[in-house]
Formats: sequence, structure tokens, C-alpha cells
Amino acid sequence: SSRLPVFSHDEVTKHRSLEDGVWVTFKGGVYDITEFVAMHPGGNKILLAAGGALEPFWALYAVHDQDHVLEILSQYKVGEL
Ligand code: HEM
Repeated sequence: SSRLPVFSHDEVTKHRSLEDGVWVTFKGGVYDITEFVAMHPGGNKILLAAGGALEPFWALYAVHDQDHVLEILSQYKVGEL
């Protein structure tokens, strides 16, 4: 079985701009959402989470508590923490 690479929190924090790539974490997964930023229904607010965890933001914006949002996120998985 193929496993995705493991990244450190430190590595994730290096990706917080469109230039360096926008990475986020969610429940132990690492996601490169660079290509999704321009498609986000909530606009550039998504960049507040760049380089770190989605959980605190999704706790505030409950619109993300839907299966279809997790399906979108899953497409961008690049690794594990
Ligand atoms: C709305 C995805 C991160 C703020 C949405 C919607 C999707 C989405 C699919 C529309 C949901 C619906 O109406 O059914 C994502 C994904 C994220 C992400 C995949 C991360 C990879 C964030 C972050 C914030 C945020 C970090 C805030 C800091 C919002 C807001 C809306 C929204 C305010 C409502 C927009 C509106 O209806 O006017 N997001 N989101 N999102 N998102 Fe995100």
C-alpha cells in the first residue's frame, strides 16, 4: 500500500503564501490548497489558516461542517503530520 509522506509542523508553516504554496492541516492530514484559494466561496479569509490548522477557523465558521466541504479538502491531501 502506498503511504503519503510525513511532514513536520515546521515544514507546514513554511507554506503560507500563494508564492510558497498554501498548506493547511486538518485532523493529522496535510493539504496543499494553493489551487483552491481562488475558488473558495469565502474568499481570501481562507489565507488566515495558511501554514497551520483549519480546526480553529472551522469552529468559528460552521458552514464547513458538511460532507461536501470534506470532499473538497480530501482532493488536496499531500501528506500526514
Ligand atoms: C464557505 C471550503 C477554509 C471562511 C465555504 C464553502 C466551502 C468552503 C465549500 C461553501 C460552503 C457552503 O456554502 O455550502 C473551505 C475549504 C477550506 C476553507 C476547503 C480549507 C481548505 C476557510 C477558512 C475560513 C473560511 C480558514 C475563515 C478563516 C469561510 C466563510 C464562508 C466559507 C466565511 C462563507 C462564505 C459565504 O457563504 O458567504 N468554505 N473553506 N473558510 N468559508 Fe471556507
